[in-house]
Amino acid sequence: MSKKPVRIAVTGAAGQIGYALLFRIASGEMLGKDQPVILQLLEVPVEGPQKALKGVMMEIDDCAFPLLVEMTAHSDPMTAFKDADYALLVGSRPRGPGMERAELLAVNGAIFTAQGKALNAVASRDVRVLVVGNPANTNAYIAMKSAPDLPAKNFTAMLRLDHNRAASQIAAKTGKAVADIEKLTVWGNHSPTMYADYRFATIGGESVAQMINDQEWNANVFLPTVGKRGAAIIEARGSSSAASAANAAIDHMRDWALGTNGKWVTMGIPSGGEYGIPAETMFGFPVTCENGEYKIVEGLEIDAFSQERINITLAELEGEKAGVAHLL
Ligand code: NAD
Ligand code: LMR
Repeated sequence: MSKKPVRIAVTGAAGQIGYALLFRIASGEMLGKDQPVILQLLEVPVEGPQKALKGVMMEIDDCAFPLLVEMTAHSDPMTAFKDADYALLVGSRPRGPGMERAELLAVNGAIFTAQGKALNAVASRDVRVLVVGNPANTNAYIAMKSAPDLPAKNFTAMLRLDHNRAASQIAAKTGKAVADIEKLTVWGNHSPTMYADYRFATIGGESVAQMINDQEWNANVFLPTVGKRGAAIIEARGSSSAASAANAAIDHMRDWALGTNGKWVTMGIPSGGEYGIPAETMFGFPVTCENGEYKIVEGLEIDAFSQERINITLAELEGEKAGVAHLL
């Protein structure tokens, strides 16, 4: 094996997303089949979750993954994040039936202050952070603000599940292959206010907007279906999406690390003021990735309908930001 192993910290490692995520990271699906990995797994310092984590690690051992060089269990972020090159912040309370994600702010916000500080203190100076735990955008914002010595651009929030959900709905509507959809994006917050935007999307070079040509379907079927998919899954399964969330986390990190070959993907990233989104707002944008860096797709026309949608999701994020100001 020629590549140097990279350290990957995962929080909430004994949770349901953790269970769908760790095996795929260890098998090389996230960073490539030639990249050895070290897993640093964090769970709350409570007997039950720590015991469950040991069980998950026994199963990972039993897979004998050739790329897995080392694996450690932690109950303190200061040891879990030590020298981490990648950190997937999954651990936090999921919402139950009938709850809105905003209600999670109070319970989960404090976790991300502490974890941001720990990343700031001990992680690699290049650590790339993905926040999955909800409300993901604002938790990522909290972690970023709590880690002033790390590059703000290295803190990201997961909008990829929304992107993938939108792609799947479009494939179903058009009868085309999901793999052929390009230039799709989801603007804003990982919440029902998100704006999934297929105005620029193409399939085999043809315009998706022209293929569908139905603004009524866009506004009244597509957007609510994508925006409320998380709740629909909670309703159907009795617990929140797990395998699809883990899959989106793998997609997000893989594309960030290994590049997208010019293809657009959606990442929640701190705004640099693009598209009138105030600087530092953790916002879903269309990006391309190359050499381990993402770049916002700029110069897209924002029509009146889109601007209205973007304003709604931005206002929600600003409200969340105001709600956590006391934590920062
Ligand atoms: P889960 O309850 O099955 O697992 C969460 C785990 O995190 C638990 O084992 C818990 O002990 C652990 N945990 C809690 N606080 C922690 C802390 N401070 N440090 C380390 N570990 C901690 O939940 P889940 O289904 O795996 O979901 C995890 C989070 O991901 C939830 O907030 C959920 O809403 C969110 N989620 C986000 C998306 C997205 O698209 N962004 C999608 C699905 C789920
Ligand atoms: C999802 O979108 O599936 C997750 O954010 C879980 C949730 O609470 O909706």
